[in-house]
Amino acid sequence: MSQAPLLSVENISVIFGKGDQSLRALNKVSFSLKQGEVLGIVGESGCGKSTLARTILQLQHANEGKVIWKGQDISKLSRQQQKALRKQIQLIFQDPLDALNPRMTVAQIIAEPLYNLAPELSKTEIQQKALRLLVSMGLHIEQQNRYPHEFSGGQCQRIGIARAMILKPELLLCDEPVSALDVSIQAQIINLLMDLKEQTGMSMLFISHDLSIVRHICDRVLVLYKGEIVEMGDAESIYTNPQHTYTKKLLNAIPLADPAREKQRIAAIK
Ligand SMILES: Nc1ncnc2c1ncn2[C@@H]1O[C@H](COP(=O)(O)OP(=O)(O)OP(=O)(O)O)[C@@H](O)[C@H]1O
Ligand SMILES: [Mg+2]
Repeated sequence: MSQAPLLSVENISVIFGKGDQSLRALNKVSFSLKQGEVLGIVGESGCGKSTLARTILQLQHANEGKVIWKGQDISKLSRQQQKALRKQIQLIFQDPLDALNPRMTVAQIIAEPLYNLAPELSKTEIQQKALRLLVSMGLHIEQQNRYPHEFSGGQCQRIGIARAMILKPELLLCDEPVSALDVSIQAQIINLLMDLKEQTGMSMLFISHDLSIVRHICDRVLVLYKGEIVEMGDAESIYTNPQHTYTKKLLNAIPLADPAREKQRIAAIK
C-alpha cells in the first residue's frame, strides 16, 4: 500500500482584487507531499510561490480548492486542531532580519513559540530548550541576550531556523531562505537545513527562483508559471530534461556570468 500524503493541495486558486483589476495569483494548483520528502517550488518573481506558502499556512484565503493535512481539510479544523497544526507546520522567511522582532533578545525570539503553544512546559524548561537550540545552530551562549540587529544575515537566518525548529515541525516551509544571503553563507544555511531534515525526518517545501540550488536538495520539483504548475517531476530529470519552454528558460537564466563562482557555490553544498 502506498503511503498517504502528509499534505495535499487540491485545485487551489487565489484571486486578488475584483472585476477588471483582479489577478489570479494561483490557478488550480494541485500537488501532494509525502512524509520526509523535500519538494522544490521554483518560478520567477510574482508567479505565486509565497502566495502558495501562505495559503498552506492559512494566512491567505483560497477562492477555490482545499488544503488537506494528514487527511483533513485545514479549513474545517476545530480550534484545538488548528493549534496543533500551528506547531506542525513552520515557516522560514526570505529576509531573516525582517522576520525577527527587533525588540526581543534572540533567546526570547527562539523561545516565544513555546510560550504560546506549549503551556505545559515550565519557564526554565523553555529557556533551556531555547539555549540548547541556539548553541546547536552555531551561535554562542554569550550571545543570548543580544538583539537581532547585532547579528549578520546568516546568523539571523540561523535564529529564524531555531525559532521554527523549537516546535519540532513535521513540515518546514522555506520561502527563499537564502536568496538574501551572501553566496558563501548560502551553502552553510542550506547544509544546516539539510542536516536538520536528516536528523528529524521532517518534510520540506523549498521555494526558490534558483533551480541550481533546488536540484541539489530536493527530491521533486514543481515549476510555477503565472500561478499555474507547468511542470512537476523528480529534481534531476527536470534539470537534465526539462519539458516545458518556461522551465528551459528558467534553466538558461541560471547565472552563468561567473561560472567559477557558480561552481564554487554548488561545490559548497554537500
Ligand atoms: N496581498 C496581495 N494583494 C494583491 N496582490 C498580491 C498580494 N500578494 C501577492 N499579490 C500578487 O500576486 C502575485 C504573486 O505574488 P507572490 O508574492 O506569491 O509571488 P512570488 O512568486 O512569491 O514572488 P517573489 O519571487 O518575488 O517572492 C504577484 O503578482 C503579486 O503582486
Ligand atoms: Mg515570494
